[in-house]
Amino acid sequence: MIVEGVVVSESRAPGGLEIHISKITPVCITSKFPITRDFSREYLLDVRHLWIRSRFLNAVLKVRSNVFRAVHDFFRERGFYEVHAPMFITAAVEGGATLFELEYVNKRKVYLTQSAQFYLEALIFTLEKVYTIAPSFRAEKSRTRRHLTEFWHAEAEIAWAHLKDIMSLEEELITYVIRRVLEENEKELTFLKRDLKKLENIEPPFYRLSYDEALEIINKKEFNVEWGDDFGADEERALTKEFDKPLFVYGFPEKTKAFYHKNDPNRPEVTLSADLLAPEGYGEIIGGGERIADAKELIDKIKRFGLNPKDYEWYIDLRRYGSVPHSGFGLGMDRLVMWICGLDHIMDAIPFPRTIRRVYP
Ligand code: 4AD
Ligand code: MG
Repeated sequence: MIVEGVVVSESRAPGGLEIHISKITPVCITSKFPITRDFSREYLLDVRHLWIRSRFLNAVLKVRSNVFRAVHDFFRERGFYEVHAPMFITAAVEGGATLFELEYVNKRKVYLTQSAQFYLEALIFTLEKVYTIAPSFRAEKSRTRRHLTEFWHAEAEIAWAHLKDIMSLEEELITYVIRRVLEENEKELTFLKRDLKKLENIEPPFYRLSYDEALEIINKKEFNVEWGDDFGADEERALTKEFDKPLFVYGFPEKTKAFYHKNDPNRPEVTLSADLLAPEGYGEIIGGGERIADAKELIDKIKRFGLNPKDYEWYIDLRRYGSVPHSGFGLGMDRLVMWICGLDHIMDAIPFPRTIRRVYP
């Protein structure tokens, strides 16, 4: 409706203002708004197309918009080129278990991308420093509070960079985004009852723990993870509750990480990889590391992982025809928004969430 009247300050009003109305003109005569009594999670997800008008999602979406802009600005200010990779692909990046398969033209089998990484690796040999923000798809069978089947992925790849270099870049990136949100979204964060002090506290250096050190902390709690196994969501939650700032866990054992990770020449059973975990129980928001730059080393590892080098011909070519050391990482944008806003569920960090059970609305 269009309202005419006089705007006056009123401290008791939610926005601090009131209108003393002299005239109302309807613009749309509506049906009764369906969200009145049933505020169950499932129902609110069914009517998501209307629930996005709530003050809660309005606040989250304003923060989300700013987080995306901040990530773009960060990379642009540092001389990265924005690039774009295809969504239809023919071989897995992150292992076969979470691939979405679909029928392409002429009954050809293709998959939805899990990560733009391999294309970013190709692109550094022409642009040197590249990034992209795009959807990634994972057929995640487990129902957790931090998994979507379609999520927004910010990925960067840098020629000549080693593990240490990308870890520094990652902590600068996260700090930059948080500063920006604190500067511009205090109103929204306060509405979301986010403890601003916890965000204000975040600045480099973040904590750095080796996999072995992290394992020791985890196993002092109620867990019993064997050396060589990956940490699950529960272990990460327990670990990150101990910390007031994000922490890196580096040096994961070979089999916990995808085949493209370079093994540490000084300790070949572990990889030159690092995950960045958000504090307060949120867990992994970034996965990254140094890539294998040598063709033979790569082919050997592909075989050791029981994969077929034929499926990765063009990726191996990047090493055959001129290669340099390089590293990169992938940041889960929805997980970042979830943590910054202090949300309980990743579904509330994205306007129209896709999970293993939900593809509507
Ligand atoms: O750790 P991941 O699987 O690493 C990669 O895909 C690398 N190829 C990235 C790279 O080096 N270019 O995924 C990266 C991040 C995770 O840390 C997590 O934040 C997010 O992507 N992520 C998900 N977010 C929501 N739902 C899911 N199902 C996710 N899977 C990964
Ligand atoms: Mg990961």
